[in-house]
Amino acid sequence: MTAKIVTFGISKGGCSKSTSSGITSYLLSRNERVLTVDMDMQGNLTSLLTGEYDICNVFEKKTTLEAILEENAEPYIINVKENLDLLPSNDYLAILPGELMKRRMNLRALENALKPVMEKYDWIIIDTPPALSEHTLMPLCVRSESGSYAVIMFDGSMFAYFAIPKFLEIVDEVNNRFNSELRVAGILFSLIDQRAKENEPMKETIDEDYPRLRFNTIIRRKAATRRLALDGFENNKELDSALEHYKRFVRELKDRVSKKESRINKGQN
Ligand SMILES: Nc1ncnc2c1ncn2[C@@H]1O[C@H](COP(=O)(O)OP(=O)(O)OP(=O)(O)O)[C@@H](O)[C@H]1O
Ligand SMILES: [Mg+2]
Repeated sequence: MTAKIVTFGISKGGCSKSTSSGITSYLLSRNERVLTVDMDMQGNLTSLLTGEYDICNVFEKKTTLEAILEENAEPYIINVKENLDLLPSNDYLAILPGELMKRRMNLRALENALKPVMEKYDWIIIDTPPALSEHTLMPLCVRSESGSYAVIMFDGSMFAYFAIPKFLEIVDEVNNRFNSELRVAGILFSLIDQRAKENEPMKETIDEDYPRLRFNTIIRRKAATRRLALDGFENNKELDSALEHYKRFVRELKDRVSKKESRINKGQN
Protein backbone atom coordinates (compact mmCIF):
# COMPACT_ATOMS: atom_id res chain seq x y z
CA MET A 1 0.00 0.00 0.00
CA THR A 2 1.12 3.52 -0.69
CA ALA A 3 0.84 6.38 1.78
CA LYS A 4 -2.26 8.52 2.14
CA ILE A 5 -1.38 12.10 1.24
CA VAL A 6 -2.76 14.94 3.37
CA THR A 7 -1.92 18.56 2.54
CA PHE A 8 -2.70 21.34 5.04
CA GLY A 9 -3.35 24.64 3.31
CA ILE A 10 -4.98 28.10 3.09
CA SER A 11 -3.52 31.24 1.55
CA LYS A 12 -4.33 33.30 4.67
CA GLY A 13 -1.26 33.36 6.91
CA GLY A 14 -1.17 32.22 10.52
CA CYS A 15 -4.15 29.84 10.49
CA SER A 16 -2.18 27.05 12.21
CA LYS A 17 -1.13 25.07 9.12
CA SER A 18 2.36 24.27 10.45
CA THR A 19 1.22 23.64 14.02
CA SER A 20 -1.65 21.42 12.87
CA SER A 21 0.36 19.45 10.30
CA GLY A 22 3.15 18.95 12.88
CA ILE A 23 0.84 17.78 15.66
CA THR A 24 -1.14 15.57 13.27
CA SER A 25 2.10 13.94 12.09
CA TYR A 26 3.22 13.44 15.68
CA LEU A 27 -0.08 11.85 16.75
CA LEU A 28 -0.35 9.60 13.68
CA SER A 29 3.21 8.38 14.24
CA ARG A 30 2.24 6.86 17.59
CA ASN A 31 0.73 3.95 15.64
CA GLU A 32 1.65 4.38 11.99
CA ARG A 33 4.59 5.33 9.79
CA VAL A 34 4.59 9.00 8.88
CA LEU A 35 6.62 11.21 6.56
CA THR A 36 6.03 14.91 7.01
CA VAL A 37 7.04 17.28 4.25
CA ASP A 38 7.81 20.96 4.77
CA MET A 39 6.86 22.92 1.64
CA ASP A 40 7.17 26.32 3.32
CA MET A 41 10.37 28.35 3.06
CA GLN A 42 9.66 29.66 6.59
CA GLY A 43 10.52 26.14 7.80
CA ASN A 44 8.23 26.40 10.81
CA LEU A 45 7.22 22.74 10.63
CA THR A 46 10.90 21.79 10.41
CA SER A 47 11.66 23.87 13.52
CA LEU A 48 8.62 22.58 15.40
CA LEU A 49 9.59 18.94 14.88
CA THR A 50 13.36 19.23 15.22
CA GLY A 51 13.70 22.11 17.70
CA GLU A 52 16.21 23.58 15.23
CA TYR A 53 15.80 27.27 14.35
CA ASP A 54 19.09 27.80 12.49
CA ILE A 55 17.53 26.02 9.52
CA CYS A 56 19.34 28.06 6.87
CA ASN A 57 22.72 26.65 7.94
CA VAL A 58 21.81 23.33 9.48
CA PHE A 59 19.78 22.15 6.50
CA GLU A 60 21.82 23.89 3.80
CA LYS A 61 21.33 21.97 0.54
CA LYS A 62 19.54 19.18 2.41
CA THR A 63 15.93 20.17 1.94
CA THR A 64 12.69 19.67 0.03
CA LEU A 65 14.13 21.98 -2.64
CA GLU A 66 16.95 19.55 -3.50
CA ALA A 67 14.55 16.58 -3.23
CA ILE A 68 12.21 18.17 -5.77
CA LEU A 69 14.89 19.32 -8.19
CA GLU A 70 16.54 15.87 -8.14
CA GLU A 71 13.11 14.18 -8.10
CA ASN A 72 14.22 11.95 -5.25
CA ALA A 73 13.28 12.60 -1.62
CA GLU A 74 15.15 9.63 -0.18
CA PRO A 75 18.59 11.23 0.47
CA TYR A 76 17.03 14.23 2.21
CA ILE A 77 14.66 12.55 4.65
CA ILE A 78 15.70 12.75 8.30
CA ASN A 79 14.38 10.76 11.23
CA VAL A 80 12.65 12.73 14.00
CA LYS A 81 11.51 9.88 16.23
CA GLU A 82 10.22 6.35 15.92
CA ASN A 83 7.82 6.21 12.96
CA LEU A 84 8.23 9.91 12.18
CA ASP A 85 10.44 11.16 9.35
CA LEU A 86 10.77 14.68 7.97
CA LEU A 87 11.70 16.25 4.66
CA PRO A 88 12.94 19.60 6.01
CA SER A 89 12.94 23.01 4.40
CA ASN A 90 14.68 26.35 4.74
CA ASP A 91 14.66 29.81 3.22
CA TYR A 92 16.04 28.63 -0.13
CA LEU A 93 12.77 26.89 -0.94
CA ALA A 94 11.69 30.37 -2.07
CA ILE A 95 13.60 29.87 -5.34
CA LEU A 96 11.60 26.76 -6.25
CA PRO A 97 9.34 28.37 -8.92
CA GLY A 98 12.30 29.97 -10.73
CA GLU A 99 14.32 26.75 -10.62
CA LEU A 100 11.40 24.71 -11.98
CA MET A 101 11.07 27.13 -14.88
CA LYS A 102 14.81 27.19 -15.60
CA ARG A 103 14.94 23.39 -15.68
CA ARG A 104 11.66 23.05 -17.57
CA MET A 105 10.25 20.92 -14.77
CA ASN A 106 6.57 20.72 -13.99
CA LEU A 107 4.22 20.37 -11.02
CA ARG A 108 4.74 16.59 -10.95
CA ALA A 109 8.29 16.93 -9.59
CA LEU A 110 7.25 16.56 -5.93
CA GLU A 111 5.21 13.45 -6.74
CA ASN A 112 8.23 12.05 -8.59
CA ALA A 113 10.45 12.83 -5.59
CA LEU A 114 8.07 11.03 -3.23
CA LYS A 115 7.46 7.99 -5.45
CA PRO A 116 10.51 6.04 -4.23
CA VAL A 117 9.34 6.29 -0.59
CA MET A 118 5.57 6.15 -1.09
CA GLU A 119 5.30 2.55 0.16
CA LYS A 120 7.46 3.09 3.22
CA TYR A 121 4.81 5.21 4.94
CA ASP A 122 1.15 5.04 5.91
CA TRP A 123 0.80 8.80 5.77
CA ILE A 124 2.57 11.66 4.03
CA ILE A 125 1.56 14.92 5.73
CA ILE A 126 2.47 18.14 3.90
CA ASP A 127 2.63 21.69 5.28
CA THR A 128 2.30 24.54 2.79
CA PRO A 129 2.98 28.30 2.93
CA PRO A 130 0.30 31.00 2.95
CA ALA A 131 0.32 31.25 -0.84
CA LEU A 132 -1.33 29.47 -3.75
CA SER A 133 2.05 29.12 -5.43
CA GLU A 134 3.84 26.02 -6.72
CA HIS A 135 4.61 25.24 -3.05
CA THR A 136 0.92 24.54 -2.50
CA LEU A 137 -0.01 23.28 -5.96
CA MET A 138 2.67 20.58 -6.10
CA PRO A 139 1.48 18.77 -2.95
CA LEU A 140 -2.11 18.80 -4.23
CA CYS A 141 -0.89 17.19 -7.46
CA VAL A 142 0.65 14.21 -5.62
CA ARG A 143 -1.35 11.09 -6.47
CA SER A 144 -1.48 7.94 -4.37
CA GLU A 145 -3.47 4.71 -4.64
CA SER A 146 -4.53 5.30 -1.03
CA GLY A 147 -5.91 8.77 -1.71
CA SER A 148 -4.87 12.37 -1.72
CA TYR A 149 -6.58 14.90 0.58
CA ALA A 150 -6.53 18.55 1.53
CA VAL A 151 -7.30 19.95 4.97
CA ILE A 152 -8.32 23.60 4.73
CA MET A 153 -7.27 25.56 7.81
CA PHE A 154 -9.68 28.21 9.03
CA ASP A 155 -9.11 30.56 11.97
CA GLY A 156 -12.64 31.97 12.06
CA SER A 157 -11.62 35.34 10.59
CA MET A 158 -13.16 37.15 7.61
CA PHE A 159 -9.77 37.10 5.88
CA ALA A 160 -9.63 33.32 6.11
CA TYR A 161 -13.30 33.04 5.13
CA PHE A 162 -12.55 34.75 1.82
CA ALA A 163 -9.48 32.57 1.28
CA ILE A 164 -11.53 29.33 1.36
CA PRO A 165 -13.16 29.68 -2.11
CA LYS A 166 -9.77 30.54 -3.57
CA PHE A 167 -8.31 27.35 -2.16
CA LEU A 168 -11.29 25.35 -3.44
CA GLU A 169 -10.78 26.88 -6.86
CA ILE A 170 -7.26 25.51 -7.08
CA VAL A 171 -8.49 22.13 -5.80
CA ASP A 172 -10.94 22.16 -8.71
CA GLU A 173 -8.20 23.09 -11.14
CA VAL A 174 -5.91 20.35 -9.82
CA ASN A 175 -8.84 17.89 -9.98
CA ASN A 176 -9.37 18.74 -13.64
CA ARG A 177 -5.77 18.85 -14.78
CA PHE A 178 -3.46 16.87 -12.50
CA ASN A 179 -5.10 14.75 -9.84
CA SER A 180 -8.71 13.66 -10.32
CA GLU A 181 -8.57 11.76 -7.00
CA LEU A 182 -7.77 14.80 -4.86
CA ARG A 183 -10.47 15.38 -2.26
CA VAL A 184 -11.06 17.98 0.42
CA ALA A 185 -11.03 16.07 3.71
CA GLY A 186 -12.56 19.07 5.41
CA ILE A 187 -12.32 22.56 6.83
CA LEU A 188 -10.65 22.65 10.23
CA PHE A 189 -11.51 25.48 12.64
CA SER A 190 -8.36 26.34 14.56
CA LEU A 191 -7.03 29.03 16.89
CA ILE A 192 -10.59 29.60 18.01
CA ASP A 193 -11.12 31.77 21.06
CA GLN A 194 -13.67 30.08 23.27
CA ARG A 195 -15.40 33.33 24.14
CA ALA A 196 -15.47 35.04 20.73
CA LYS A 197 -19.11 35.78 19.95
CA GLU A 198 -18.64 35.36 16.20
CA ASN A 199 -17.83 31.62 16.52
CA GLU A 200 -21.39 30.34 16.25
CA PRO A 201 -22.47 32.53 13.30
CA MET A 202 -19.21 31.65 11.52
CA LYS A 203 -19.85 27.93 12.01
CA GLU A 204 -23.36 28.34 10.64
CA THR A 205 -22.09 30.29 7.64
CA ILE A 206 -19.45 27.68 6.81
CA ASP A 207 -21.99 24.85 7.19
CA GLU A 208 -24.36 26.66 4.87
CA ASP A 209 -21.69 27.46 2.28
CA TYR A 210 -19.88 24.11 2.44
CA PRO A 211 -22.24 21.43 3.74
CA ARG A 212 -20.51 18.51 5.49
CA LEU A 213 -17.05 19.95 4.94
CA ARG A 214 -16.43 21.30 8.48
CA PHE A 215 -14.65 18.95 10.87
CA ASN A 216 -16.72 18.64 14.06
CA THR A 217 -13.58 19.11 16.10
CA ILE A 218 -12.76 22.72 16.90
CA ILE A 219 -9.13 23.42 17.80
CA ARG A 220 -9.20 26.01 20.57
CA ARG A 221 -6.50 28.61 21.12
CA LYS A 222 -4.34 27.26 23.93
CA ALA A 223 -1.13 28.58 25.41
CA ALA A 224 0.16 25.01 25.82
CA THR A 225 -0.25 24.42 22.06
CA ARG A 226 1.59 27.64 21.24
CA ARG A 227 4.42 26.72 23.62
CA LEU A 228 5.09 23.48 21.69
CA ALA A 229 7.34 25.52 19.41
CA LEU A 230 9.35 26.43 22.50
CA ASP A 231 9.23 23.25 24.57
CA GLY A 232 8.97 20.55 21.90
CA PHE A 233 7.23 17.19 22.18
CA GLU A 234 9.73 15.27 24.33
CA ASN A 235 9.68 15.60 28.13
CA ASN A 236 6.97 18.20 27.82
CA LYS A 237 4.80 18.13 30.96
CA GLU A 238 1.90 19.91 29.27
CA LEU A 239 1.95 17.77 26.11
CA ASP A 240 -1.42 16.17 26.82
CA SER A 241 -3.02 19.55 27.21
CA ALA A 242 -1.28 20.88 24.06
CA LEU A 243 -2.57 17.96 21.98
CA GLU A 244 -6.00 17.64 23.59
CA HIS A 245 -8.18 18.88 20.73
CA TYR A 246 -5.96 17.38 18.06
CA LYS A 247 -6.54 13.81 19.29
CA ARG A 248 -10.18 14.18 18.34
CA PHE A 249 -9.29 15.80 15.03
CA VAL A 250 -6.93 12.97 14.06
CA ARG A 251 -9.64 10.40 14.82
CA GLU A 252 -12.04 12.36 12.64
CA LEU A 253 -9.50 12.71 9.84
CA LYS A 254 -8.77 8.98 9.86
CA ASP A 255 -12.47 8.25 9.81
CA ARG A 256 -13.11 10.55 6.85
CA VAL A 257 -10.14 9.21 4.92
CA SER A 258 -11.10 5.59 5.54
CA LYS A 259 -14.64 6.08 4.21
CA LYS A 260 -14.75 6.47 0.48
CA GLU A 261 -18.10 8.25 0.62
CA SER A 262 -16.60 11.02 2.73
CA ARG A 263 -14.06 11.83 0.05
CA ILE A 264 -16.05 14.94 -0.52
CA ASN A 265 -15.22 17.71 -2.86
CA LYS A 266 -16.88 20.91 -3.89
CA GLY A 267 -18.76 19.36 -6.78
CA GLN A 268 -20.47 16.80 -4.56
CA ASN A 269 -22.08 19.19 -2.12
N1 LIG B 1 -4.30 25.95 18.91
C1 LIG B 1 -3.40 26.94 19.09
N2 LIG B 1 -3.38 27.63 20.26
C2 LIG B 1 -2.50 28.65 20.46
N3 LIG B 1 -1.60 29.04 19.56
C3 LIG B 1 -1.56 28.38 18.38
C4 LIG B 1 -2.45 27.30 18.08
N4 LIG B 1 -2.18 26.88 16.81
C5 LIG B 1 -1.17 27.64 16.36
N5 LIG B 1 -0.79 28.54 17.28
C6 LIG B 1 0.21 29.60 17.17
O1 LIG B 1 -0.29 30.54 16.21
C7 LIG B 1 0.74 31.02 15.38
C8 LIG B 1 0.41 30.65 13.92
O2 LIG B 1 0.43 29.24 13.80
P1 LIG B 1 1.18 28.54 12.59
O3 LIG B 1 2.55 29.10 12.42
O4 LIG B 1 1.05 27.08 12.80
O5 LIG B 1 0.26 29.02 11.40
P2 LIG B 1 0.52 28.87 9.84
O6 LIG B 1 -0.80 28.82 9.18
O7 LIG B 1 1.44 27.75 9.60
O8 LIG B 1 1.26 30.22 9.52
P3 LIG B 1 1.91 30.62 8.09
O9 LIG B 1 0.75 30.98 7.23
O10 LIG B 1 2.81 31.76 8.41
O11 LIG B 1 2.65 29.41 7.61
C9 LIG B 1 2.02 30.36 15.88
O12 LIG B 1 2.63 31.25 16.78
C10 LIG B 1 1.54 29.12 16.62
O13 LIG B 1 2.40 28.73 17.66
MG1 LIG C 1 3.25 27.77 8.54
